[in-house]
Amino acid sequence: MSMCVCVFLQALYPSPEEGWQIYSSAQDADGKCICTVVAPAQNMCNRDPRSRQLRQLMEKVQNISQSMEVLDLRTYRDLQYVRNTESLMKVVDGKLKVASENPRSLNPKGFQELKDKVTQLLPLLPVLEQYKADAKMILRLREEVRNLSLVLMAIQEEMGAYDYEELRQRVLLLETRLHSCMQKLGCGKLTGVSNPITVRASGSRFGSWMTDTMIPSSDNRVWSMDGYFKGRRVLEYRTMNDFTKGQNFVQHLLPHPWAGTGHVVYNGSLYYNKYQSNIIIKYHFRSRSVLVQRSLSGAGYNNTFPYSWGGSSDIDLMADENGLWAVYTTIPNAGNIVISRMEPQSLEVLQTWDTGFPKRSAGESFMICGTLYVTNSHLAGAKIYFAYYTNTSSYEYTDIPFHNQYSHISMMDYNPRERVLYTWNNGHQVLYNVTLFQVIKTSGD
Ligand SMILES: *[C@@H]1O[C@H](CO)[C@@H](O)[C@H](O)[C@H]1NC(C)=O
Ligand SMILES: *[C@@H]1O[C@H](CO)[C@@H](O)[C@H](O)[C@H]1NC(C)=O
Ligand SMILES: *[C@@H]1O[C@H](CO)[C@@H](O)[C@H](O)[C@H]1NC(C)=O
Ligand SMILES: *[C@@H]1O[C@H](CO)[C@@H](O)[C@H](O)[C@H]1NC(C)=O
Ligand SMILES: *[C@@H]1O[C@H](CO)[C@@H](O)[C@H](O)[C@H]1NC(C)=O
Ligand SMILES: *[C@@H]1O[C@H](CO)[C@@H](O)[C@H](O)[C@H]1NC(C)=O
Repeated sequence: MSMCVCVFLQALYPSPEEGWQIYSSAQDADGKCICTVVAPAQNMCNRDPRSRQLRQLMEKVQNISQSMEVLDLRTYRDLQYVRNTESLMKVVDGKLKVASENPRSLNPKGFQELKDKVTQLLPLLPVLEQYKADAKMILRLREEVRNLSLVLMAIQEEMGAYDYEELRQRVLLLETRLHSCMQKLGCGKLTGVSNPITVRASGSRFGSWMTDTMIPSSDNRVWSMDGYFKGRRVLEYRTMNDFTKGQNFVQHLLPHPWAGTGHVVYNGSLYYNKYQSNIIIKYHFRSRSVLVQRSLSGAGYNNTFPYSWGGSSDIDLMADENGLWAVYTTIPNAGNIVISRMEPQSLEVLQTWDTGFPKRSAGESFMICGTLYVTNSHLAGAKIYFAYYTNTSSYEYTDIPFHNQYSHISMMDYNPRERVLYTWNNGHQVLYNVTLFQVIKTSGD
């Protein structure tokens, strides 16, 4: 049932009319081919062959009942005619009887009268012919209706196995699987970072800003959190355009202050490190409430193990195509960067990796497709220097340059939905595109 097909741009897309929908695409390094997931259209149920069959049958039933009505009307009209002529027939019959018993009684006038009466009855012949035809038609229709009810019963039996709601649920599930499948197909190794685009200059030297990292999401809101020390005020803008212009925002006052700039918004909730603790808090924006908080066991905090720029950046939360992550370190790990994959509902740690890279020497880090990329500085001349692959628990030194325009990066996070890097650079909110090198498969699940 699941279908993930990677097609090349040159290939013909199945058209939506054929019941197929194209989900999304991701460009490769040269923009040469597009990786696309095609899936049955959302209204797949309508296009189900059984539904089509059922619709045809309904139409047939409608056609038949229309025919029946016509037949009924004709029968009624004809019956009237037959009734009217009945008395006439009786008269003719009586006259014929008299004439046959007493031929002499049939004078020319009487003969003419009888002839006229028979002429009047002549139209009855086609009516009777029609009756014979109708009788045949009724027989055929009856057979057809009988056939039909058998087919309908068979279909009903088959459909009984999954009712409509269940079918819809299956489609939704398939859709979710396709989205994650699409994301994995679009995944790859970071090979380049574009020139920066400065979206806005706002706030102090240190801070954090973001959009929702959940895939799929139609949430366009932008959040901004100025400062790294004991902040509680989160500004929420309706759209990126509103953020750019500094208009249309609401404020959230967090029940507990934050530390650092490693916050992330995932599926409508803000995940952040509680001030002077290694507690992670999940704050739900819509209900303006804390859904869960949990200590990240052993994680250093209170500016014990920050990135090179300091600022209580001990615990850095982030999300990529694979879900939610925490990047931090512990005393047993001797200050080397540790990665933990987190369960977004309970904040439980699912799996942990020790990268061996000293956190103090890292400017920032961000996760793309399950790989952690680490910069070697927050200052001018910084580059992406180290990559840790969680899929193979291995690392590699890299040399990926990027333009650090304002020379002081205090936040750098990848948004998997938009495939861009969000950074806070010396009071500027800056975006970068990323180039991911990917091996395009021609088919697979
Ligand atoms: C119903 O009648 C219409 C018009 O006579 C015809 O075009 C159509 O094919 C019929 N449908 C079925 C299912 O027999
Ligand atoms: C009814 O079904 C039988 C057996 O499938 C078939 O031979 C017959 O032609 C059908 N009758 C009609 C009116 O469709
Ligand atoms: C691990 O992930 C990287 C990209 O993040 C990818 O290039 C590499 O092929 C993956 N390795 C395996 C064994 O899947
Ligand atoms: C996203 O949040 C909704 C409720 O707001 C929840 O039902 C859903 O399971 C969450 N999805 C994920 C992947 O966490
Ligand atoms: C955090 O650090 C500050 C300044 O170094 C210190 O005064 C405070 O006691 C520390 N708090 C905790 C909970 O470690
Ligand atoms: C990223 O690429 C897209 C498409 O080429 C472009 O519209 C957008 O402005 C770019 N963004 C950045 C930050 O370079």
